[in-house]
Amino acid sequence: MIAAIIAAAGSGERFGAPIPKALIHLGDKTLLQHAIANLAPLVDQIIVTAPAGFEKQIAELVGDEITVVTGGSTRSESVSLGLAAVVAETEFVLVHDAARALASTEMTSRVISSLKAGEVAVIPGLPEVNTLKVVDADGYVLESPERSSLRQVQTPQGFAYSVLKAAHANSRDVTDDAVLVANLGHNVLVIAGEDCALKITNPSDLAIAATFLGNASSFRTGVGVDAHAFGEGRELWLAGLLWPGEVGVDGHSDGDVAAHAICDALFAATSTGDLGSNFGTSRPEYAGATGTQLLQETLKIVTDAGYLISNVTVQIIGNRPRIGARRAEAIAALSHALGGVSVSILATTTDGMGLTGEGKGIAAIASALVFK
Ligand code: CTP
Ligand code: MG
Repeated sequence: MIAAIIAAAGSGERFGAPIPKALIHLGDKTLLQHAIANLAPLVDQIIVTAPAGFEKQIAELVGDEITVVTGGSTRSESVSLGLAAVVAETEFVLVHDAARALASTEMTSRVISSLKAGEVAVIPGLPEVNTLKVVDADGYVLESPERSSLRQVQTPQGFAYSVLKAAHANSRDVTDDAVLVANLGHNVLVIAGEDCALKITNPSDLAIAATFLGNASSFRTGVGVDAHAFGEGRELWLAGLLWPGEVGVDGHSDGDVAAHAICDALFAATSTGDLGSNFGTSRPEYAGATGTQLLQETLKIVTDAGYLISNVTVQIIGNRPRIGARRAEAIAALSHALGGVSVSILATTTDGMGLTGEGKGIAAIASALVFK
């Protein structure tokens, strides 16, 4: 059996929020909920140390399967109190900080693997990038430790249960449990840490953590394609612009393949259907709608689904018209319809091959990147 103690009883004085730091939100969850979600797949029991007075609120937040105990006045004391709630048959205990909310399941599994391979104390750590000095009380340098041998250690730290229990039996106030275990003469192994396991101490750390979250979980992409055949007697609308003197295309709407492909890329990225299901023949109010009107409607659907658009690209495929001369104007028209997002427009011919190469029509392929 593996137990995890998540230290969450601090007040977060340096962070300066009116609520305990573990209850601060990062994206869609509190720091404590992130820490739990990352450890839960690997452990049999989770114990959370709560600040006095917040036990009930935290118990409701984390659910029945998690043990909540009241923490102490120091981190070491909180961990000792958590340790008292570990079930007897436990083999390994992880000690983690709620403040390192984004420490990954992958790194945690490496800690556990080393324990299973026979280590009694395993902690993640990153190489130190700064040159560090040991100073005396007056600020004079006593020592300059060799940087290459230094590590910034993180949590979760993993221990054999019996070893950690013995270490805490006569504990003093230390900032990590590995010190206590080392004091008993045990080997402590440092394995590779990770940037996303940073400790959230000040508000600026939360902003850094948010960048890890954004990259990890909430970006989505989509691709959209459209093609229309040329139709005599129609004017050409393409990329939000009227192209005087060019042959237009057939279609239910204005036939703007660039706008339509972008709409579909956005629907694809946000799982909100497609052009047909949103604006098709069953929705007569959209008959004859312009490409820019459909983009505006699409922006609304995507926004209502909770997404922001990062950027869109579209490549127009056809022999005519020549896009280059009006590229800036077309980008401005499409971007304006999408509320000002970044738009790129490319164009190509297909060397005389296929429907567009034979001059039968125009096609477009678009991509979109969105985030929640
Ligand atoms: N912690 C704890 N019990 C304490 C003090 C700290 O369980 N008496 C926990 C914190 O909740 C945090 C972790 O230990 O998840 C690391 O501590 P730190 O980052 O220093 O958090 P705080 O003590 O809350 O912050 P500060 O020192 O700024 O007050
Ligand atoms: Mg503290």
